[in-house]
Amino acid sequence: MKLQIEQVSKTYKGEQALSNFTVELTEGVHALLGPNGAGKSTLLKIIAGVLNPSSGHVFVDGEDTIRMGERYRELLGYLPQHFGLYKNFTAERFLLYIAALKGLDKRTASQKVTEVLQEVNLEDVRHTQLRKFSGGMKQRMGIAQALLNDPKILIVDEPTAGLDPKERIRFRNVLASLAGNRIVLFSTHIISDVEYVAQDILLVKDGHLVGYGAPESLLSQMQGHVWQVSCSQNEVAKYQGSFQIANMCRIKDRIELRIIAGDKPVPHAVAVNPTLEDLYLFQFGEEAVSDGTSVNHAI
Ligand SMILES: Nc1ncnc2c1ncn2[C@@H]1O[C@H](COP(=O)(O)OP(=O)(O)O)[C@@H](O)[C@H]1O
Ligand SMILES: [Mg+2]
Repeated sequence: MKLQIEQVSKTYKGEQALSNFTVELTEGVHALLGPNGAGKSTLLKIIAGVLNPSSGHVFVDGEDTIRMGERYRELLGYLPQHFGLYKNFTAERFLLYIAALKGLDKRTASQKVTEVLQEVNLEDVRHTQLRKFSGGMKQRMGIAQALLNDPKILIVDEPTAGLDPKERIRFRNVLASLAGNRIVLFSTHIISDVEYVAQDILLVKDGHLVGYGAPESLLSQMQGHVWQVSCSQNEVAKYQGSFQIANMCRIKDRIELRIIAGDKPVPHAVAVNPTLEDLYLFQFGEEAVSDGTSVNHAI
């Protein structure tokens, strides 16, 4: 199956949130990575059919999804960024309720509920009230409801926000296990979410797709842009004024700087292997810093 996003743009009250976004996705996990305000939710809402683009189209195997109507909705599972659960419901009751809203008959619904609870590892707590669930469990419930109609396209908006590292890893594994015969597209502003799990990364900045490819391929484009420089404490300010610093770390009386720069910053700089964090910083610069995610200033 092919999901084609073609020249999709969105303007909110004169403000451009997405510009000519074009990409083609097939089965597998795809990560939409970018800082807050980049346009991720806008794009996912348009793909999920809950928001109309100002221009452009979304196609499945060459057919316009607007024309497909109900047939497209049957292919689709969507977990919005802000998703509410009825806290007095048990996991099972909540899913049966959503299944009824989605028009599943009672028998199919009860089968599907068991199936999706297994898929997200919540079978043991099917009779527990949702108010007792952790953040990670609630997010997995969100995925479970999106899976009820066995969607071939699963859209998940910032699923790991607010999760602790253990829950995040668990969630990532759930996404990976679902991707076999599905197109899974999830958004995040957290770099560690996309490592290991994403087959390819879509880098979004100010509504534009600024990078697209497998993690290794995006990283290979960064080769020769990341440098390590050892300097004294007095020299740090000079480097900070002239270069983008990805990391600093004190080793005895020296400071090791990790510098992002197109050319060798100083003769004694040593080229090092880029990481996704470097890539993020290279693309998003100060936005990444103010977002509080990627940069570890160890001093
Ligand atoms: N309903 C809306 N009305 C006006 N502006 C919006 C609306 N939704 C989003 N925006 C703006 O569009 C841009 C992209 O937002 P969004 O898609 O939510 O980004 P992200 O999900 O990457 O944080 C932001 O500048 C945001 O303020
Ligand atoms: Mg968002």
